[in-house]
Amino acid sequence: MTASAVEIQARTLAGYADASRLRQVQDRDWVLDQVTGAPETLIDLGSGIGQLLQAALERFPTLRRAVGLERSPHRIAEAAERLRPYGERVALHRADLTAPEPLPFRAEVITQTSVLHWLHPDEERIFAWAGAHLTPGGTFLLTTYHPARDEHGLGGEDELVRDALVALGTPYDEVPGAFARGGVLPIATRTRTVEDLAALIGPHLRVAGHLERDAVVTVDGAAQYEHFHAATFGDYYSGLVPEDRRAEFFRAVGESAWRRQRERGHVSHMAVRLWSLTSR
Ligand SMILES: C[S@@+](CC[C@H](N)C(=O)[O-])C[C@H]1O[C@@H](n2cnc3c(N)ncnc32)[C@H](O)[C@@H]1O
Repeated sequence: MTASAVEIQARTLAGYADASRLRQVQDRDWVLDQVTGAPETLIDLGSGIGQLLQAALERFPTLRRAVGLERSPHRIAEAAERLRPYGERVALHRADLTAPEPLPFRAEVITQTSVLHWLHPDEERIFAWAGAHLTPGGTFLLTTYHPARDEHGLGGEDELVRDALVALGTPYDEVPGAFARGGVLPIATRTRTVEDLAALIGPHLRVAGHLERDAVVTVDGAAQYEHFHAATFGDYYSGLVPEDRRAEFFRAVGESAWRRQRERGHVSHMAVRLWSLTSR
């Protein structure tokens, strides 16, 4: 059986430049607006397709070293293409942030946007790593997402996936069990609460301050959200359905989003926190 275009997109996390306009892109300027002074070194953790690094290189002519650590080879390749004009100011390394390797230098600025929930349950390792890689007076700027969650720990994207599974025939009440059997930890559980994160951060970094915004996602139609889901969540959830129904699953996620948009005027909204963390 040949995979549909959206399944291939999910496998390769393609189309993120377009998809990220719906939510993640807003973190970029928000984070860079908090940078003070004239940094020479910035490390972006989970650098994706290199959008934050590019914006930083444009904003800060003093930046001599813009480093991206990222797991997906597809994303690194796309970032390398995007950042080619900046030559030796850029270094991209393949890395697993749940087991981060030390780098032989420190940075005045470390950033991480829309990534931390993917590191669950090993987030503390990246806090220890950042503590060891900040220069004295340097700042780790981190964004974390906080969707409301139900008694099963589901919320945010899990709700759209729940709608899609129901459309494909799973009874509503059986969806949390289907997640558990399929080894899918709900995203609203992965994201943790602010209090839980503060407890993980505390031993390694000092919270110098925070900002908060409400991230509201709106779409023009079902297809737009179908592609947002595939580019952002890849095949994280789609393994919950048999291979021959995956195209149908992605379509149903898009349709759920579009129905919510028509009913509520938006697909979803959730609190996003921007943490300013300094070394202890
Ligand atoms: C939602 S994207 C965010 C990308 C970018 N930071 C942004 O704000 O647009 C999450 C990124 O984290 C990366 N990622 C997830 N788990 C990772 C891990 N264990 N190590 C390194 N990168 C990881 C993904 O490949 C993806 O590029």
